[in-house]
Amino acid sequence: MTTSGKPEIDTSRPHSARMYDYYLGGKDWYPVDEVAAEKVIKVCPQIRLTAETNRSFMHRATRALATEYGVRQFVDIGTGIPTPPNLHQVAQEAAPDARVVYADHDATVLEYAHVLMRSTPEGRTAYINADVREDPILDSPQLREVIDLDKPVALSLVALLHFVPDDCKPYEIVSGLVDKLASGSFLVLSHCTYDFDQVAWQGVKKVYDAGGTTVQWRAKEEVESFFDGLELIDPQVTAAHDWRPDAPVEATGEEADLLRSAALYAGVGRKP
Ligand SMILES: C[S@@+](CC[C@H](N)C(=O)[O-])C[C@H]1O[C@@H](n2cnc3c(N)ncnc32)[C@H](O)[C@@H]1O
Repeated sequence: MTTSGKPEIDTSRPHSARMYDYYLGGKDWYPVDEVAAEKVIKVCPQIRLTAETNRSFMHRATRALATEYGVRQFVDIGTGIPTPPNLHQVAQEAAPDARVVYADHDATVLEYAHVLMRSTPEGRTAYINADVREDPILDSPQLREVIDLDKPVALSLVALLHFVPDDCKPYEIVSGLVDKLASGSFLVLSHCTYDFDQVAWQGVKKVYDAGGTTVQWRAKEEVESFFDGLELIDPQVTAAHDWRPDAPVEATGEEADLLRSAALYAGVGRKP
């Protein structure tokens, strides 16, 4: 903890939020993150495309929920270091009165959280420093000030759950969160997998595990299980680039192979 009460930024080992920022071309990482991220890029050269594909899925899903489904409340856990457009910017572009609560457990994300507070005057945003494995995020008074849980919410767990291995009970965590949401709420998630390039993603896992962040990539059926009790909206759980693309994906040959090897799963489910 620093004297201001903020958690200390740990630069002794790589952190997933800062490595992700490195893949996305951001500047908020330390040498230890660069070394680990470069090791990942060596075994999985498509990782930057995975990060971009994931980010753009988050944008499309948020836009679709705000425009087509009328969602006005968003909770985004595992937010990451701000990278414009952030979720509230996408949601508030579609619906200026949208209210967004962000949560992450990383000290560097907290350091930049002020960027996530630049709400439209009609809407509202908040940030909670919290760990999805331990903290009752939906019960937090900061969240309840912004979000009315009696009304539909879009809960985003985008590229988060592969950082929650089975021994941390990820399915119980997700069902515990969804149980608190009103009917008509949505679960939005994406998740890395071995299914599209086993060798590369085995190599990626080794780098993360060695750096002190245990990851667990999951198969399609395991990702679908996070949506138990929910109605998956089309196109169901699919490769993220195939989830309602803005334009038809027309890659062929090497380009198509690259896109496939970079793929992670994505899906959106509605609580009946
Ligand atoms: C790969 S980034 C994804 C960022 C953003 N959701 C996106 O998809 O662009 C994963 C984020 O999850 C956060 N994270 C990992 N484990 C977490 C936990 N147990 N509780 C809260 N946040 C966590 C990391 O700090 C990181 O910011």
